[in-house]
This record gives sequence, C-alpha cells and structure tokens, in this order.
Amino acid sequence: MPRAGYDFVVVANRLPVDRVVDADGTTTWRTSPGGLVTALEPVMREADGAWVGWSGDAGEAPEPFDQGGMHLVAVPLSKKEVARYYEGFSNGTLWPLYHDVIAQPEYHREWWEAYVKVNDRFADAAAEQASQGATVWVQDYQLQLVPAMLRERRPDLRIGFFNHIPFPPYELFAQLPWRRQVVEGLLGADLLGFQRMSDANNFLRACRRALGLSSRVQQVSVPSPDGGSRTVRATAFPISIDSRAVDEMARSPRVQSRVAELRFELGAPRRLALGVDRLDYTKGITHRLKAWGELLADGRIDPEDTVLVQVATPSRERVESYRQLRDEIELTVGRINGDHGSLGHPAVHYLHHNQPRDEMEALYQAADVMLVTSLRDGMNLVAKEYVASRFDEGGVLVLSEFTGAADELTQALSVNPHDIDGLKDAIARALEMPPREQSRRMRALRRRVMEHDVAAWAAAFLKALQDPPAVTAATAATATAATAGTATAEGS
Ligand code: ADP
Ligand code: F6P
Repeated sequence: MPRAGYDFVVVANRLPVDRVVDADGTTTWRTSPGGLVTALEPVMREADGAWVGWSGDAGEAPEPFDQGGMHLVAVPLSKKEVARYYEGFSNGTLWPLYHDVIAQPEYHREWWEAYVKVNDRFADAAAEQASQGATVWVQDYQLQLVPAMLRERRPDLRIGFFNHIPFPPYELFAQLPWRRQVVEGLLGADLLGFQRMSDANNFLRACRRALGLSSRVQQVSVPSPDGGSRTVRATAFPISIDSRAVDEMARSPRVQSRVAELRFELGAPRRLALGVDRLDYTKGITHRLKAWGELLADGRIDPEDTVLVQVATPSRERVESYRQLRDEIELTVGRINGDHGSLGHPAVHYLHHNQPRDEMEALYQAADVMLVTSLRDGMNLVAKEYVASRFDEGGVLVLSEFTGAADELTQALSVNPHDIDGLKDAIARALEMPPREQSRRMRALRRRVMEHDVAAWAAAFLKALQDPPAVTAATAATATAATAGTATAEGS
C-alpha cells in the first residue's frame, strides 16, 4: 500500500529556524546558529522535502509549517530533555569527545537514557513523514542512533547519515561507555558521510574494534537479522557553502556601501583582522587573542593602524564550559584593550551577538586578514565564506591545520594554533603580504570554493546513496581523495 508523505526527508537536531517567544507572547522565528543550517538550507530550498528538527526551545512543538519554501516538522523536547539530551549527552559528552577531548567529556547514565529516548522520537517523526521508499538523510552527532531505529521501523527507506563534526580516533572513542550502541546506531544507514577521509577511517576502525566487524576499502559488512548481511559504506564528502550566493551578495551595492562605512568607522586606513566563530572552546579564540595581545606587547603591530574584530556568536550558554570560556574571552579582551587601546580606538572590537547575513559579508569584505584558529573543527564554513566573498581577490586567510577546510584550502597560511610563536609570525606575515601574493593565493582558493559548493556536496552524497555499494564506495573514495588531497583507506 503506497503511503503519503515526502520522498526526501532531512532529520537534524535543529530546524533551520529557532522559535523566539517575546515577553508579550508573540512568536518570531530567526535563523538557527551553526554551519549545518548554513549548508543545508540552500539544499532544502531547492528540494521538495520535509525537514524534521527541534525548534530550539523547551515545551510543546508547533504544528508543522511551511517557511522559505521548506516544510518544517518540529520535534518537541521537554526542559529535562534539553538539559540531558542536548546540553548533556550531545554537548557535554559527545562534542568534547569528538573534538580531541579539548574539554573533559562527562559520562552520565541519565544523559544517555535521554539521548536514546529523544533519538527514538526523531526516528518516529521521520518515519511518519517519509513516503514509501523515500530517501531520509540524518544529520550529525546528536542523532547517531536514528539510522538503526529508522531501519527497524521502515526497512523500505534509503537512509543516509552525515557527520558534520570529526569522528574521533578509536583510542578516544573507546572511552564512551555506549560505544557499541553508537556504532550499531550509525550502521543502520546505507551510506555514512564524513568531512575527512581520516574521520571515515576512524569510524571503520571503531566498527572493527567495538563490534568485531570486518571492513574493506570504505565498506563494512553488517550481519542482518535474516542471517544474511548488508554492506554499509563510509567515506568522505567535504561539505561546502552556497558559494555563488555569497559571492553575489558580496558584490551587491548594499554590502559595498556598508564596507565603505565599516572601514570609516574602524578608522581607515587601519588594517582589519577578523575572527567569526560560535563562542566554542574548539575554535581557538583564546589562542588567537593571546597571539594578538603578544604582537601588540612586542610592538610588532601598532593599535593605531591595526585592529582586531572578534565576532563570537552566543552558543550553548547553559553549559558550564561555555560559560567559563565566555568569561575568559571577555577578561582577555578587556585586558588587551586596557593595555593597548585608546579613547575611541579599542585594540579589539568584541561582538557577542548574531549578525545579519549582509553585515557578515561586509565584515569579510573589509577584513584584510581572516583568522581561523580552531583547535579541532569538522570543516569550518567561515573560512569558505571569507573566500567566496572575496571577488576582489584581496585578503589573506590564516587557517588552522586542524580544520577540515585545511585539506582543501591549501593556499591559505596554515597554522598550528597551539604554537603561539608560529601563529604570531603567520598573522604578522598576513598583515604584510603584498597584494600580488594575496591575489595569487586567493585566486586558487576561490577556484576550489566556487567549484565545490554545497549543491555539489549534496548531489555527490545523494547520488552515492542511490548507487549500488561496490561501485560507489570505491568511486567516492577515489574522487574525494583526488579533489581534497586526503589519505587513502586504511586496511582492515
Ligand atoms: P560551526 O558549525 O561549528 O558553528 P562553521 O564555521 O562551520 O562552524 O559555521 C558557522 C556558521 O555560522 C557560518 O555560516 C557563519 O557565517 C555563521 N555565523 C557565525 N557567527 C555568526 C554571527 N555572529 N551571526 C550570524 N552568523 C554567524
Ligand atoms: O556542526 C556543528 C553543529 O553542532 C551543528 O550540529 C549545529 O547546527 C551547530 O554546530 C550549532 O550548534 P547548536 O545547534 O548546539 O547551537
């Protein structure tokens, strides 16, 4: 019996918009934070599908609604579930564990129980929206159990999973008391996509070590309940942005006049260095500020002619490690400004709020140097946005080698953010880089970002998801390794 529903369903922790209820009870919707939404929103606008996700606040979910050409289906989370599933297991356990244990992961059984329960609810919602034989694309670390839960309910579906953040080496992953269940959950998918080939290989190794499964080039064989087996593929699909839209917006008269205003407000011809991040300990904001403060103290940059603008978007503000980080950043900015600023001329401008899209574009355009100093980052779309906005081929990207973007953006100035002296030298070099070298590098960076955009990413993943296993795994792995210059598969 054919079912009604959508042929294409995306399932993500968040909807592309967050619900904000004002003091007077009026509800408004604003764009949700983070790279996942930046990447998937343009894909979903083009597709006739449903997006299943959380509305960003606790309590009853609104009825399904249409917005910006997308059909949005909200999944409710109670206050306790926000605390245990979202702030707890997702962002107090998995996030630090998957980002090299930069912060200490916490393991609590009641957080795990909430994670299972909420994943189950997302699987129900997706199963309800999907038509017979539909494609369901599950997103990110918050929903790793959904693929298997969904397969159990709906074996007719084609199920893909994409992990937006790194997948850790087994030596770290092994700490997770529920490592078997997480790997089993993911193996419910037909195809698993990761940002880098090293992430895919870490996952395949976890299949071997945690479950004793055998794998060969980018595939793992999973026993099925009928005594047979299924082949699950795991390989790299580096995510990207809507490069053309960013480029076009950057060229618009509105953004161009804002660029001129910004330069004036910041005291042109002062040179501008820029940082744009969610306020997260993985982003290396404190390392960046340390390097900047030392460059000022050493007299290598003069606050009269160089300024740093740091945009730090509020994120996960009820999680203790994020609160501590905010205090540390604000203390450091205050100290640098106290030591090196003057009236009307702070050495660091610090903005702790969301910016409209065109303001972000204007900042990218105005920035002589873009600083991306993540300690670990699945991709880092800010780096790609900076490149896409520089149609003038000016500006220098300083990029941490610990981002997924570093595999592709090889013409950036590469840095190890832990090496403060190296970081200082790279910033100083970027600020002094002659225009000819800037445009030579930026041209090459733009070639990559304009060609490999988010539409190409989604098309490659979804095509691989429909293809028969043996052909796709080898092809996708080879294609990705060739374009991104990544490592080849690890043996079994
Ligand atoms: P993550 O997914 O970890 O947040 P990314 O760099 O991949 O990191 O993506 C961040 C996205 O959020 C980018 O599209 C960036 O433009 C956007 N963003 C970051 N800070 C702000 C801000 N203050 N206002 C609006 N958008 C922001
Ligand atoms: O990819 C990283 C990611 O966790 C996304 O899943 C998410 O959209 C973004 O960062 C922002 O995080 P949060 O949804 O916790 O605000």
